[in-house]
Amino acid sequence: MRNFTCVQDLGDLKQALREAFEIKKDRFQFTELGKNKTLLMVFFNSSLRTRLSTQKAAMNLGMNTIVLDVNQGAWKLETERGVIMDGDKSEHLLEAIPVMGCYCDVIGVRSFARFESKEDDYTEKILNQFIQYSGRPVFSMEAATRHPLQSFADLITIEEYKKTERPKVVMTWAPHPKALPQAVPNSFAEWMNATDYEFVITHPEGYELDPKFVGHAKVEYDQKKALEGADFVYAKNWAAYKDPNYGKVINMDRSWTVDTEKMALTNNAYFMHCLPVRRNMIVTDDVIESPQSIVIPEAANREISAQTVLKKILEGLR
Ligand code: CP
Repeated sequence: MRNFTCVQDLGDLKQALREAFEIKKDRFQFTELGKNKTLLMVFFNSSLRTRLSTQKAAMNLGMNTIVLDVNQGAWKLETERGVIMDGDKSEHLLEAIPVMGCYCDVIGVRSFARFESKEDDYTEKILNQFIQYSGRPVFSMEAATRHPLQSFADLITIEEYKKTERPKVVMTWAPHPKALPQAVPNSFAEWMNATDYEFVITHPEGYELDPKFVGHAKVEYDQKKALEGADFVYAKNWAAYKDPNYGKVINMDRSWTVDTEKMALTNNAYFMHCLPVRRNMIVTDDVIESPQSIVIPEAANREISAQTVLKKILEGLR
């Protein structure tokens, strides 16, 4: 595998899951693979899980790691071509990217949607420049439209906890005070559509996602109806995708918060969220602290998804 930005890059998903479970059995069995190889992790945005789990995954494979927080200590970067750089930005991304490529063998990039231009976000302008100009394999640590390492960890978690071959998985929008990108819900939908699970998306009107990601999911505007019989409840907020409201919060309806009453409608479902989560906006304390909450094992599987992806990239370098 050269680059990893979406589910298709993994190839055979069932095989990738088998590799993930193999790694989980003994995560130190491939320490020679990354020997003398360096991973550079470039963050344009904050992170807790992605930063720690990806670094740990790389160390499990014997790699060296360098972390660059672009907004803390690096030169302020210009990303637009053609700009007269007479302002506060000292370096252009078009020099910075190939320079970064000189110091590493693999690059991970986190670059969220900026909500300034839907076209720039949905063409993955920043991530694709890394792919084009770094000369190195590149993987997404959450880009503008997808968060594939998260979705892979989500899938691993569902496979571990499912009680039936074809569980009902419901992704529900929930309220949040700030505008959040669609990367996690887009990506989760893309990965669920790559399985044969029953997959339902529920959200208030106006929060429709890009149809490219919704795929063959059932969209149900009545949250309670959607949750009936669910085996997994995946809660997430996202800002509006549709024009003219792209990137806006159009509703903070707290009747969409996942609480015990909602969970009682399900088939004793497991509760999932990618974290960080705002309690009593997205989910109540009772639900996230309940035995059915699997947010911590879900986060733990971020190490496994990252290690599986890095292993496949390192194998491609041999
Ligand atoms: N879920 C996730 O990607 O967490 P961080 O933003 O903390 O990395």
